Amino acid sequence: MKYLSISFLAVLLLFSCKQGPKTTDEEPLQIAQANLASEEGRTLMETKCYVCHNPSVPENGQRIAPPMVAVKAHYLDVYKERGAFVKGIMEFVKSPSEENTMMRGAVRRFGLMPAQQFPEEEIRKIAEYLYDYQIEEPDWFKEHWMDRRGDSLYNKGKKPTVVPKEQNPKEMGMKFAQETQKILGKNLMGTIQNKGVEDAVVFCNERAYPLTDSMATNFNAQIRRVSDKPRNPKNAANASELAYIETFKKEVDAGGPIEPILKEENGKVYFYYPIVTNSMCLNCHGTPGKTIQPNVVQHLSRLYPDDKALGYNENEVRGIWSIVFDTPKDSD
Ligand code: HEC
Ligand code: HEC
Repeated sequence: MKYLSISFLAVLLLFSCKQGPKTTDEEPLQIAQANLASEEGRTLMETKCYVCHNPSVPENGQRIAPPMVAVKAHYLDVYKERGAFVKGIMEFVKSPSEENTMMRGAVRRFGLMPAQQFPEEEIRKIAEYLYDYQIEEPDWFKEHWMDRRGDSLYNKGKKPTVVPKEQNPKEMGMKFAQETQKILGKNLMGTIQNKGVEDAVVFCNERAYPLTDSMATNFNAQIRRVSDKPRNPKNAANASELAYIETFKKEVDAGGPIEPILKEENGKVYFYYPIVTNSMCLNCHGTPGKTIQPNVVQHLSRLYPDDKALGYNENEVRGIWSIVFDTPKDSD
């Protein structure tokens, strides 16, 4: 329904442009509605795509994909017209393949974009936003692009309106934890389904950190997953984190609703929330020989000689999110 009313409005806009003078009092409403549609495209892009296509990672920082403006530039180079541009982006995202790529260099450098399930309407909105609006680009990109292609219209479009969002520390922390969990989980499940548990171990070993870091850059926060029984010794909980883990264990056992723990100190929010196991986790955190296949056990013990993250059942506290971010300015 929402979508319908937006297209209806687009028709209205068209008509009002073509058919003589507009009445002044309907104009603000139309602008507000158009802004709402663009806001939706931008939010979708920032939550679904910036995990990997983040504009704020430096040129030689730990990037895992080209910034979105590079994608836009390459597609505009080939598809000048809006419909073709949107279709091109949608087709690639639906099933990334080397035959369809417009970005051979990126495929070579980062590997092919992992296939993920995104609702078609969401990809359309993102693609339309990309075409219609200027998007945030890293400082280095312009020179990089002009050296190679010399076309200064690579990021053409309207200037987006930035609508400040209301922010509260608890909601922000939950959002950071959930979005990071989602992206890790999605990639993990994808790898297990397409390549099996053994390759998924390699995925966790190599990609868990870059993906988490990239989310952290995206949200301008420090994001860690820590545990009282860490697999990777770098993920060991410190003394206060250990205490929170104990608190969460009691709460999870009691079966009630779980509230995050928040502390605010010197302009920073410290946010903690439990990471609880489900049956899928037992493929790698359950019992060797029972829920963990022998080939996976072998793989794990080679990568993590000091692995403590075994022997879990479903619905147990595997660890916690430990997230630090600046206290939002308008939170009080
Ligand atoms: C898990 C990381 C990841 C996420 C999330 C992701 N991408 Fe990508 N994407 C990549 C990588 C890596 C490349 C570069 C390699 C390639 O082109 O396949 C890429 C390339 C692309 C390309 C260019 C493809 C080509 O080669 O012609 C498009 C278009 C694209 N992404 C769109 C999107 C959109 C839209 C979203 C959000 C809905 C998104 N991506 C989310 C990793 C990701
Ligand atoms: C395919 C195997 C695999 C599956 C399935 C898996 N993990 Fe892991 N997990 C790993 C590996 C490998 C690491 C170490 C990653 C690293 O080196 O940073 C890890 C690390 C973690 C950590 C960080 C703390 C630590 O022990 O180093 C948490 C928390 C965690 N996993 C939770 C889960 C949860 C919850 C699930 C289910 C939703 C799950 N994992 C499913 C392999 C897996």
